[in-house]
Amino acid sequence: MRKIEMVDLKAQYAKIKPEVDKGIQQVIDNATFINGPDVRYFADELAAYLNVKHVIPCANGTDALQIAMMALGLKPGDEVITASFTYVATAEVIALLGLKPVLVDVNPDTFDIDVAAIEKAVTPKTKAIVPVHLFGQCSDMESIMNIAKKHNLFVIEDTAQAIGAEYILTDGSRKKAGTIGHVGCTSFFPSKNLGCYGDGGAIYTNDDELAKKIKMIAMHGESSKYVHDEVGVNSRLDSIQAVVLRAKLKHLDEYAAARNKAAAHYDNAFKGSGKIKIPARNKNSTHVFHQYTLQLVGADRNQLKEFLATKDIPAMVYYPIPLHMQKAYKDDRYKTGHFPVTEKLCGCVISLPMHTELDNDMLKYITDSVLEFVK
Ligand SMILES: Cc1ncc(COP(=O)(O)O)c(C=O)c1O
Repeated sequence: MRKIEMVDLKAQYAKIKPEVDKGIQQVIDNATFINGPDVRYFADELAAYLNVKHVIPCANGTDALQIAMMALGLKPGDEVITASFTYVATAEVIALLGLKPVLVDVNPDTFDIDVAAIEKAVTPKTKAIVPVHLFGQCSDMESIMNIAKKHNLFVIEDTAQAIGAEYILTDGSRKKAGTIGHVGCTSFFPSKNLGCYGDGGAIYTNDDELAKKIKMIAMHGESSKYVHDEVGVNSRLDSIQAVVLRAKLKHLDEYAAARNKAAAHYDNAFKGSGKIKIPARNKNSTHVFHQYTLQLVGADRNQLKEFLATKDIPAMVYYPIPLHMQKAYKDDRYKTGHFPVTEKLCGCVISLPMHTELDNDMLKYITDSVLEFVK
């Protein structure tokens, strides 16, 4: 059996090597490193895949969030509501721009932002909501859009972990994650479901004016060559990364299917165990399983992680410390115990290997090992 990785990018690359190598060589031969044609082709191909009007590539997912908030004209002191159980980048850019992060708890089974808590957190200073489609499925977007409409708020979807997931609206129609709110932000970090071979990110919107502003801000606030209308940033996707992303985008649905197959294997193996809670699905979303995250009940997840390591099985804890308990984000508003679901999850979650190259032998070895620990 091949070595089990948390994410097996080497084995995935082997399958797309000729196309990736040829494309990278062309970029080098043509010296089209920055703003080469592949960046534009990729943006158009991703827009077609997502069924969204504009995709603006940028340097990483954190920049995508920052540029989106700048383009929406959010000003210091404006309140932005986001989840307390997420990767730090979501709250980081809010704080960095001098906005006020307002954290709310998440749902205990699906890990997504608690809509009832959002409604309670809205004040006259609230300007935006940032739902995070954590681990690969959409938050309850229809309810979030209703709250936003009622209070005249922007919705910025953090879809770094859920590219390709579909939200199912009550009329039965479907929209891709990141295309439901006013703006969607994603990351192409190598381990993401659509990952490049370095850093990368993108911003999506259906709003023409907003798209223009996003492009301008990502390019030093430049409205035409050497004319700067706003303070912007320098945030670009490299041509070499665009080549990798173009090759992988063609396989994105296939990759999601492989991840779902692995998730189904895990579900079947664990569903009878009293000590393991399998990840619940949001009924209004498909799942692309960026992570397959268990909750351990009456067993220690740190001990499980150590036990699996002795069997050469990697596992990760996303995330061990709630945002409000991080030194950088300490705030008198939030004491220990303020977000009970987040605090509980940070103590009991564990993510198992999840990628496109897991075969049945590997999955059986992993599930047998987990069950051996909890028996
Ligand atoms: C939910 C979430 N938001 C934002 C980011 C930031 O993306 P990047 O690492 O490309 O800056 C990540 C990436 O890890 C993420 O998981």
